[in-house]
Amino acid sequence: MRENGLVISIDGTAGTGKSSVGKAVAFQLGYGFLSTGEMYRALAYKVFEKNVAPEDAQAVLKVANEMVFSFERQPDAKLHVLVDGVYLGPDKLHSEETGNVASKVSTHAQARAVLTAKMREAGARGGIIMEGRDIGTVVFPDADVKIYLDASAQERANRRFKQLKEAGQSPDYDKILASIQERDYRDSHRAASPLKPAADAVIIDTSDLTLEEVIAKVRREIDKKIH
Ligand code: DC
Repeated sequence: MRENGLVISIDGTAGTGKSSVGKAVAFQLGYGFLSTGEMYRALAYKVFEKNVAPEDAQAVLKVANEMVFSFERQPDAKLHVLVDGVYLGPDKLHSEETGNVASKVSTHAQARAVLTAKMREAGARGGIIMEGRDIGTVVFPDADVKIYLDASAQERANRRFKQLKEAGQSPDYDKILASIQERDYRDSHRAASPLKPAADAVIIDTSDLTLEEVIAKVRREIDKKIH
């Protein structure tokens, strides 16, 4: 075990509850929680801000190399991703548009390598749950516990639809479903570090489980390593 505890990876498709589960379990354990998608989202935001084409691998790499990442732990366990000392915030990081650009910039192997190195630094001392697409396969192939969360595209679209409705918006279910399917396809068919479960990952289908049930299952896997 590393000096601050275990390294736990949670990978899976978008909208399966990776962040809610990871943050809750990290809080229980007194660990930090890093959503690595926010690093790709921060890169996407900078690419957008600098008017760089997301398809231009060399230009995206240049933006990635210029970004100074740091991490600031919040009381709820979450590690805020700071770029050049600034937290960009949920509005910039979590807009639909940033998500789509993130999915594109994350296809470039060299830019991925820059962000992967930063993720390894963040987790080097352990005591961390890291959530993403390639944490158990590429970033920390030696993670102590590897979880892979999945759920049907329809169920994930339902959840997103409800969230947006509760936020006072008028979402379109078919558009949400199409966008989820498009992102799944891109994330799992790219050449560089495609989304797939590590051979030694515990796969949990969350379609018919409550958040609490998923948290309990993940805790059982971790407790096997702690006790
Ligand atoms: O999990 P998310 O929606 O915040 O991630 C945004 C995008 O970043 C997603 O489309 C794929 C990419 N990503 C990645 O390629 N590897 C990771 N470890 C995390 C995210």
